[in-house]
Amino acid sequence: MEYAHNKYIKKYEFGNPYDTGAVVACIDKTAGIPERFRFDAKTDTFFYTLKEKDMVFGLGETVRGINKRGWIYVSNNSDDPVHDENKTSLYASQNFLIVDNGKDVFGVFLDNPGSVTFDIGYTDANVLSIHPEYNDTSFYVIEGASPLEIIRTFRELIGKSYIPPMWAFGYGQSRWGYKTAGDIREVAAGYKELGIPLDMIYMDIDYMQDFKDFTINPERFPDFENFVKEMKTEGIHLVPIIDAGVKIEEGYDVYEEGKANGYFCKKENGEDLVAAVWPGKVHFPDFLNEEASRWFGEKYKVLTDAGIEGFWNDMNEPAIFYTEDHLKEVFAQVKEFEQKELDIWGFFDFKDVVGSIANNPEDYRRFYHEFHGQKVRHDRVHNLYGFYMTKSASESFEKICPDKKILMFSRASYTGMHRYGGVWTGDNCSRWSHLLMNIQMMPGLNMNGFLYSGADIGGFGGNTTEDLMMRWVEFGIFTPLFRNHSALGTREQELYRFDRKEDFRHLIELRYALIPYIYEEFIKAVEHNGMYMMPLSFVYREDERCREIEDQLLVGEALMIAPVYEQNKTGRYVYLPEAMRLVRFRTYNDYDTEVLQKGDHYIKAALNEVLVFIRPGKELPLATPARQVDRINRKELQRISF
Ligand code: GLC
Repeated sequence: MEYAHNKYIKKYEFGNPYDTGAVVACIDKTAGIPERFRFDAKTDTFFYTLKEKDMVFGLGETVRGINKRGWIYVSNNSDDPVHDENKTSLYASQNFLIVDNGKDVFGVFLDNPGSVTFDIGYTDANVLSIHPEYNDTSFYVIEGASPLEIIRTFRELIGKSYIPPMWAFGYGQSRWGYKTAGDIREVAAGYKELGIPLDMIYMDIDYMQDFKDFTINPERFPDFENFVKEMKTEGIHLVPIIDAGVKIEEGYDVYEEGKANGYFCKKENGEDLVAAVWPGKVHFPDFLNEEASRWFGEKYKVLTDAGIEGFWNDMNEPAIFYTEDHLKEVFAQVKEFEQKELDIWGFFDFKDVVGSIANNPEDYRRFYHEFHGQKVRHDRVHNLYGFYMTKSASESFEKICPDKKILMFSRASYTGMHRYGGVWTGDNCSRWSHLLMNIQMMPGLNMNGFLYSGADIGGFGGNTTEDLMMRWVEFGIFTPLFRNHSALGTREQELYRFDRKEDFRHLIELRYALIPYIYEEFIKAVEHNGMYMMPLSFVYREDERCREIEDQLLVGEALMIAPVYEQNKTGRYVYLPEAMRLVRFRTYNDYDTEVLQKGDHYIKAALNEVLVFIRPGKELPLATPARQVDRINRKELQRISF
């Protein structure tokens, strides 16, 4: 690790912090309590008094607005598909935030892989408190003149963000429910027939034999290698899912090898933990153990050898449907309940016992890792599991396919994973509020280095509608990861299934026309440790109005976007912090433009129209779209400037 002398970062330590791998630079330790904070040793809580105008940004993948003030957030990676406002934890723990009142601004990063509660003016409106469940913490305070400066310093500390292959900036179609090669061919044909660009089709769990990682069901996918080739000649990359749990099945090589070498997570008594996920009973590979991690990572070779160049890692919080041990306890308790007359309290107790089988907190205390040669109980390092699964894959790609860039993103994450892959934001729902949540999550993700990120466009759970899908695509065309994904049993939402097929084609074409801009701005954000998508207040520091804007974003250096995210709206209010050129796109080459002055505007945007604002002195390059990213001529561009 490089030794960094950075006068803007102070590092404080409490207890015995783990070397989590979040940071890539050594910082001198400062003794005492973090500057600006008060520490209560009795409750292991750090307090900061919020000033009236303080806004709080960051924490990555969390519910609610861009300004996090007013709610409580718990870093505790959770497999929870109900992303309501009253949730405190989602799949990710990205423990960096910025407190900013426009004049005074500072950043905080808590390197602690256990559960950490950030109470940001919830219990007391004027207090930010940070409470790690186990206070083995490296606590960083980062100073700087502006949020962007602080973010740059923080990102120097945690290392450069992952860059996916260029084609991964294309459009991807996914659905939990594509079962056979035939299903996938049908999707490819559906898009091709209408001339809608498409670069990726995702393969969800059904491609596997009995949900076993690194297997292919030979009946559903006969001659898989040729199928991968066939799709590639169509310009399509197949991107399979890999789950964290390894099926317990005699004769299954991954199980046999893991068992024989002691690579699975163990209980206190040394036996391998038995949990259940999609395949039924599974063991969890101990990704925190270097040897086990190397072993699992090399398994991806089965698929890379077959021509696969991208993966999504899932269920790696890890999600636990049940553990064998807990299920036994539940059955015993249910028997006791059977003997009783259930009054209302008894009934509630019964419901609690039965309803708390999946992802039970007790289960996360039942197993251990071998981490840097130490036996560590899972809950103390819980938030590292998805990070280390992704690190395992990514490090192995350098060995098993050194000449290729591999697409990799994950559901669970922790600060530092951004060096190895991107994230998608998990099982959202087909709701208008989740489109807004997608918009509001992007700045926090970017601050934490997760530049290659995005949500399930159209919504994963529930039934989408044509208008929601269209508005979501209109925002999604700006997110680096641009994937339409939906759950088993929901309405099918491939774009060619809707009535307004032409409009969808135009929107996806617009994405492809924007690729030179998106890619260049993305790379700039990686290289300069900057933001690809950011709140207006990070740039327009003097403009008080920008501080409260929660539904417009700056995208790269030249653009501002103002997506429409409400049902039945044919326009919206937009605030311009300075004069800008509005471009109202219907297609990539059919648009009208107009210069608008600083201030408030009501701007019409019909269902098929996308609003883009070019900042003064900037220009927007547009390519001629192609069916795939690789076929775009990135040299011949038209430019709209202001
Ligand atoms: C999880 C994933 C989702 C996937 C499903 C089946 O819910 O988040 O994207 O489709 O598992 O694999």
